[in-house]
Amino acid sequence: MAIQKLIVRGGTKLQGSVTISGSKNSSLPILAATLLTPDECEIRRVPDLSDTNYMVQILSLLGAGVERASGTVVTKAESITHEAPYDLVRKMRASVCVLGPLLGRLGRAEVSLPGGCVIGDRPIDLHLRGFEALGAEVEVKGGNILLSAPNGLRGAEINMRGSHGSTVLGTGNVMMAAVLAEGQTIIEGAAAEPEVVDLARFLVRMGAKIHGAGTQRIDIEGVRELHGAEHDVIADRIEAGTFLVAGAIAGSEVTLKRACVSHLQPVIEKLSSCGHEIVSDATGESITIRSAANPRGNEIVTDAYPDFPTDMQAQMCALFSIAPGISAVTERIFPQRFMHVPELVRMGARIRMDGATAIITGVDHLSGAPVMASDLRASAALVLAGLCASGETAVNRLYHIDRGYEHIDDKLLAIGADVRREKGD
Ligand code: EPZ
Repeated sequence: MAIQKLIVRGGTKLQGSVTISGSKNSSLPILAATLLTPDECEIRRVPDLSDTNYMVQILSLLGAGVERASGTVVTKAESITHEAPYDLVRKMRASVCVLGPLLGRLGRAEVSLPGGCVIGDRPIDLHLRGFEALGAEVEVKGGNILLSAPNGLRGAEINMRGSHGSTVLGTGNVMMAAVLAEGQTIIEGAAAEPEVVDLARFLVRMGAKIHGAGTQRIDIEGVRELHGAEHDVIADRIEAGTFLVAGAIAGSEVTLKRACVSHLQPVIEKLSSCGHEIVSDATGESITIRSAANPRGNEIVTDAYPDFPTDMQAQMCALFSIAPGISAVTERIFPQRFMHVPELVRMGARIRMDGATAIITGVDHLSGAPVMASDLRASAALVLAGLCASGETAVNRLYHIDRGYEHIDDKLLAIGADVRREKGD
């Protein structure tokens, strides 16, 4: 597909409602988990993204039968191979989460080492430490990771905490191997993100015995086999947070439908403290933001759930660019995750970097410009900046956004944004 760009014309006040899609970061490990059983599984509310498309292709190239009808994916991993296809795996780092299920189901796995990416070094040492603790042998050869457990996996006490805290995909990966290990596994320093809880919920539906998901200590009792199950993926809290910021930065009043308010607390608290009014209904699925007449800046430090999510950091930098006063955004998870800063500066933002902290002095308006980002969330931040900038902003390399936001232009048009997709240069 030709490279595309999104032309955003700022100035219109956003209003109306947008329906939030299923979570990308929940769908990916859950789709990988279907490899753990030869039975049929049905996963609903899988967003139509290039990342989930890659995962569906990887499952099918591993030998699983996979059918996809709009948001529902039906898999049947009756007989599968242990080698994941290099040319697909290299396109999506999250492919590493097939290691755990392949190791658990087959006792072997071979996946190419994920490359780094623009938000920084993306090691998987904690994943491998977990697999070794379960009795697997780990070898890195020719750019591939080879795991083998000829005598099967045995439960263990595993500390998954790294120098930057817990690992989301690492926790999921080790959990997916441990559910079929012999005996009890305790994961200390586990990630507590909602996506880990959603994965655990699906595994329990498949017959796994897991307690403590959502806390930093997960207790797993291995079982001999898992059976097929159905699952509805949770709402995407980062897409929802991104549209809340759209409502704050360029809205009058925007309502999100089918969101999950309880997963959005850190973002809601921060936006409210900036003066934006946020109300949700009794179902906890509908949430409305009314943009502040006199918005304020603030301070953010990203950290593991339930603290402020790193995946919302770039979007808040865009918002703070036009909030009066001085704001500070510190990135504790991926210290280099500031690809959006030079591009926001090109739009007139006043941002100074101090180590892993962006010091932002609010300006009264941004000016549209051709911009480019090479990180999914940085690209989204530039679209948000374009919504409130004067003139047109062309966000290039739209494929970054299409990785993580389902039909973002349709959703923005539905709330009155002036956006159009064009062939990129
Ligand atoms: C998941 O990535 C998400 N991706 C990321 O979202 C998200 O930013 C990240 O969690 C943190 O919340 C998916 O779920 C597909 P980590 P993951 O392992 O699991 C270090 C997006 O925009 N680390 O929790 O790969 C690592 O370098 C994406 O949707 C190790 O040191 O992230 C980082 O500093 C971007 N060794 C920190 O831990 C390891 O073995 C957290 O990384 C693993 C991680």
